[in-house]
This record gives sequence, C-alpha cells and structure tokens, in this order.
Amino acid sequence: MTKLSVNINKIATLRNARGGNDPDVVKAAMRIEQFGAEGITVHPRPDERHIRRSDVYQLKEAVTTEFNIEGYPSEDFLRMVLEVKPHQVTLVPDPPEAITSNAGWDVITHQSMLREIVARLQSAGIRVSIFLNPQPELVEHAASTGTDRIELYTESYAVGFPSNPESAIQPFVATAEEAAKHGLGLNAGHDLSFRNLHYFASHIPNLLEVSIGHALVSDALFWGLENTVNLYKRELHRP
Ligand code: PXP
Repeated sequence: MTKLSVNINKIATLRNARGGNDPDVVKAAMRIEQFGAEGITVHPRPDERHIRRSDVYQLKEAVTTEFNIEGYPSEDFLRMVLEVKPHQVTLVPDPPEAITSNAGWDVITHQSMLREIVARLQSAGIRVSIFLNPQPELVEHAASTGTDRIELYTESYAVGFPSNPESAIQPFVATAEEAAKHGLGLNAGHDLSFRNLHYFASHIPNLLEVSIGHALVSDALFWGLENTVNLYKRELHRP
C-alpha cells in the first residue's frame, strides 16, 4: 500500500504571515495523522520562510507516523537531521533561494558527494531517498550512491496529465521499472493533486510513498482537512 505523507510547509507559510502561532503546525500534523495520513513531510529552508528549525524539533516529539525531512544537504541541514533522526531524509538539490524544488539530482556529477552523505545518514539509522527526474538512465547512478529509495520528481507528469496522461506517465513507469531492477524503493512527489493522483498511483508499480503539500492544503480550505486527507487516500488506493 502506498503511504500518503502530507507536506505541511504551506501550513507554516500561513502561520508565518502573522507572526503568531496560528495555525499551529504541530497540532495540524497531529490532526493530519489522526485523519489517516501515514506520514508527515517538512522541507525546512535556510531562511525559515515556512518550516523553522524549531518546528522540526517539536515535530520530532509529536509525529507518531513516518517523519520525512527534505532538504539540500548543507552542513547545517545534515547536523540538524543527524540530531533529529527522522525516519527518512529526502535529499533535494535545490539552491536556498529556489521557491520550490525544481529539478532532480544530477547523480552523475554529484555521485561521490551523495555517496558520502547517504552513508553518513544511514549510519545514524536514517533511511535516505534521493530526488530524481524521471529518466531511467539515471537510476543505476542513483543506486551506486547507496541510497535506499528515489523520489520521482512528478512536476512534468502533473503538467502533461490533463492533455495526455499516457505520454505523461510513460517516463515514470520506465524509471520505476528500472528502480525495481536495482532494488531501490520508490517515492514520488511534487504537484500531485486530487485530480492526477489516482492515475499516477495506479500506473506506477511498487510505489511506496507519495508526499503531497500544496494541492492537499489548498483543497483543505474548501473541503476541510479531515475530508481532504480521506479523499486523497481514497484516490491513492482505489482500484
Ligand atoms: N517532494 C519534494 C522534494 C518537494 O520539494 C516538494 C515541495 O516542497 C514536494 C515533494 C511536495 O510538492 P507539492 O507541495 O507540490 O505537493
């Protein structure tokens, strides 16, 4: 069964707009778990424009499902995750000023750096996932970093899905098949939504986890958080 991990960055963005503690990020994470999500994802950035370092430490105490921390592996980021020890760290190559992640790793150029970081995290008992574009030829290079999983960067799927779902999904199926050959676990995320989630999950073999933030939190404004988490889970799991 594919796990739904909810990325709560947008809830922190709303809180930060007024400087107080509304909405409470930790309370939101706990509710999201109660409503059935199987994981909580955060993507702290150096400027703390949404999730703050202090949130990460508080969430570690509160989250009872899978805690996934995404980020660029600066020394600061690595120190934090090695202290917090979440279940999973997802390494993304985005520069600090990026609005959101906008590419997967160049696993050929950065192979030795990634290998060293993956080993450091794994020796602390943390599972590692590497954000990757849907290109099957990259999978063997990702595998040679020693990573446990890859997270497929799904933006191109989300963009192509409305006009041509078959062609939008094709590189993801090919990359997923290659990942299975190399024994890599498979996650996916970015721009997944209520509309495109079912088609994606039902076409990708061995999908272990999706992380969804923007669309889910936006839908929750209209549908309510509990209802939205349940609707996304239904889309993820219906045949
Ligand atoms: N995966 C990664 C690596 C991300 O950076 C993000 C956005 O923070 C997501 C998944 C979730 O994307 P979205 O907010 O579009 O659902």
